[in-house]
Amino acid sequence: MATGAGKSLLKVRDLLHVRVAAPDLDEAERFLVTFGLATVERTPDRLYSRGTDAGPWCHVVERGEARLIGSAFLVDDRAQLEKAAAIAGAGAIEPTGEPGGGDRVRLTDPNGFSVDIIHGIESLPALPVEEHRVNTAFRRGRPDGQLYRRPPGPAHVRRLGHFVLSTPDLDRTRQWYREVLGLIGTEDIFAGEKDNIVASFSRLARGEEYVDHHVFMTHKGAKADLNHLGFEVLDADDLFFGHYYMKDAGVRHRWGVGRHRLGSQIYNQWFDPWNRGYEHWTDTDVLNEQHELALVPAAEALKSQWGDAPPVKFE
Ligand SMILES: [Fe+2]
Repeated sequence: MATGAGKSLLKVRDLLHVRVAAPDLDEAERFLVTFGLATVERTPDRLYSRGTDAGPWCHVVERGEARLIGSAFLVDDRAQLEKAAAIAGAGAIEPTGEPGGGDRVRLTDPNGFSVDIIHGIESLPALPVEEHRVNTAFRRGRPDGQLYRRPPGPAHVRRLGHFVLSTPDLDRTRQWYREVLGLIGTEDIFAGEKDNIVASFSRLARGEEYVDHHVFMTHKGAKADLNHLGFEVLDADDLFFGHYYMKDAGVRHRWGVGRHRLGSQIYNQWFDPWNRGYEHWTDTDVLNEQHELALVPAAEALKSQWGDAPPVKFE
């Protein structure tokens, strides 16, 4: 059994959403819809968005100076909320007051970002997605003469898969997300000596069930900030549809298309209007709790299986 979940204060089931602030909700919505998210609800001060998979909404923008506010994780039962409320510095159990309802406890991570622990939020049914895959059986099954051509449009964002934070205090940040939330380590990246950890990938603890290579990644940086949000799209073809749609819309590109070495995803990253990273990815490694934490040298960490050199360094 890998390290982590057994000794943690909580055991979260899933990443629910990430919460950011932006000064202009119209501009935020234009970017998010171009990126491939669908608007769930818009109030004068909040914008809620979702992917096409069944599940609760996955992204909220609050009107305000551009910054990361925090994240939210789902727990299985109310006992977990009570445990969360007993953690030093935690808020009380309270209704979320947001779409889908449920109750929450607001925690604060070592960087001052909020981490909401939520129980009882409602799922939304999946959105219909037209079959589009590059697939011989699909093409042969179409009526004679009806050749399939997908019109230009955004990628289909299925769900939020992970988020990445830079932090001046990597050790405390990495430990907090593992020891409080019960995430388990997938890969830690070292520079020079093996105890000089400069980045780390953590995943959900679900026993024998296979989960994404990481739900949370953190790396050393001059300040605590959001590096990027990673959203799963339908497949590689869909990712390229999104690429050219966003390029034509004038969105600023960040990195990709490539295939990561760690995690193995095909990735493509963009900047939102406030220089935050938004990533489309598909085809990740999946692991269960049996997989042991690995230590990886920094020189290996940012290599791609294919694709351009990265725009950042881990040092
Ligand atoms: Fe990512």
